[in-house]
Amino acid sequence: MAMETGGPFLPARRVADSRSEMTEIVLPNDANTLGNLLGGRLMHYIDLVGAMAAYRHSRTHVVTASIDHIDFIAPVHVGDLLILKSALNRAFRTSMEVGVKVWVENTVAGTSRHVASAYLTFVAVDSQGRSVPVPVLEPETEEEKRRFADAGRRREHRQADMERRRGGQR
Ligand SMILES: CC(C)(COP(=O)(O)OP(=O)(O)OC[C@H]1O[C@@H](n2cnc3c(N)ncnc32)[C@H](O)[C@@H]1OP(=O)(O)O)[C@@H](O)C(=O)NCCC(=O)NCCS
Repeated sequence: MAMETGGPFLPARRVADSRSEMTEIVLPNDANTLGNLLGGRLMHYIDLVGAMAAYRHSRTHVVTASIDHIDFIAPVHVGDLLILKSALNRAFRTSMEVGVKVWVENTVAGTSRHVASAYLTFVAVDSQGRSVPVPVLEPETEEEKRRFADAGRRREHRQADMERRRGGQR
């Protein structure tokens, strides 16, 4: 498939090669007046853990091109542990879709629950900020293949949406 042919000398990589994880404790400085984690702070962590997966896949500089969608499903409180996991869903020519999932662990009760999910697109760039090809991603498991296919559909929606917005600006 032409869309997946990254640089001809770049070896294909597995989803597992990009998997990344970050754990943060929520401190009072991260919270709003109700003692809940600020949405902007959570977006910052999501961007960071997403970039880690994109770095591991591309092994070059990456920039965040877009964040599709973030659902904040439940509040996170001061003192909770945030666990963020990311992995590549699909590599295109120079861009990569990364999925991020966030859990919160109550340190006293020892329970954890899913609190947010997001899809981000990163673009691999050289030191001048010019986009460069990334390695092909080879999904292995059924779950990885499903995410790979879903990422292709999301890209089509993204591109159609960008076209619509460009049309609206003319
Ligand atoms: C992302 C960026 C490098 C794309 O530059 P560009 O001139 O549009 O580059 P191209 O047209 O060659 O597109 C390169 C890739 O980016 C993708 N892309 C561009 N804009 C995109 C967007 N808004 N969302 C998702 N992907 C996007 C293209 O689909 C293309 O992917 P492909 O090669 O896999 O097909 C450029 O817009 C940029 O530097 N933006 C600022 C990034 C940044 O600073 N982020 C931090 C937040 S401030």
